[in-house]
Amino acid sequence: MSTQETAKQIQEAVQFIRSQSPITPQVGLIMGSGLGILADYIEDAVTISYSDIPHFPVSTVEGHAGELLVGMLSGVPVILMKGRFHMYEGYGAELTAFPVRVMKALGADRLVVTNAAGGINTTYSAGDLMLITDHINFTGRNPLMGPNDNAVGVRFPDMSEGYSRRLGNVAREIAKEQGFDLREGVYLAVLGPSYETPAEIRMMRTLGADAVGMSTVTEVIAANHCGMEVVGISCITNMASGILNQPLSHEEVIETTERVKSRFLGLVQTLVAR
Ligand code: 6GU
Repeated sequence: MSTQETAKQIQEAVQFIRSQSPITPQVGLIMGSGLGILADYIEDAVTISYSDIPHFPVSTVEGHAGELLVGMLSGVPVILMKGRFHMYEGYGAELTAFPVRVMKALGADRLVVTNAAGGINTTYSAGDLMLITDHINFTGRNPLMGPNDNAVGVRFPDMSEGYSRRLGNVAREIAKEQGFDLREGVYLAVLGPSYETPAEIRMMRTLGADAVGMSTVTEVIAANHCGMEVVGISCITNMASGILNQPLSHEEVIETTERVKSRFLGLVQTLVAR
């Protein structure tokens, strides 16, 4: 698609969302599997189904319909994605970037990304929250492939601070105040949908990864490209393949997110407030 066509699509989505809510969001939030409960804490929320937004793909993940919420969280105008687009669903990397660009065009210049991830670092355990300090893009995809829109960002964007040091420090401070151990580390993304083999996890550990998942990196690349400041939190829902003597299941992922819900909510709500 040409850059003009993409720009037009973004503007059409922006116009539609503006027609639904008068709020100009300052912060965008993308909630990972099982972490969409934050949506329940948004005040004056306008809920928009992805299927109603021009050019938004319809998320197929675990049956739950994708929704965009615009409203107030901790006194801050926000826009929140409940359900994201994964490349394992068959979406191209560029599509995963589309909502990020729409958020930015609506006025959000900060992005909070969250996900469920497998622990690679053997000092982690299921239920830990991890501040993402950096990522390794192992998906083989990049949302910026194709012609570049110079009005959005540069052709070769810097990724040396893909995750904001400043916002990371704020997250650390909050965890300290709230009395829990916030882990920090490198998030490695694969395409999925199959989980990794034990050999793959050993390789990833050697390469410097602390957690593994199937999302986030393309969104973060797009956010950096368009000049957003990013903070990322992984919920370690299970240890990755071969670490514990047990198979991995999506049920465990959902169970763990249920368990850490309140800690996670406290962290993200306070992060947005600051
Ligand atoms: Cl172990 N791997 C991947 N790729 N994604 C995950 C996961 C593991 N645990 C939760 N999400």
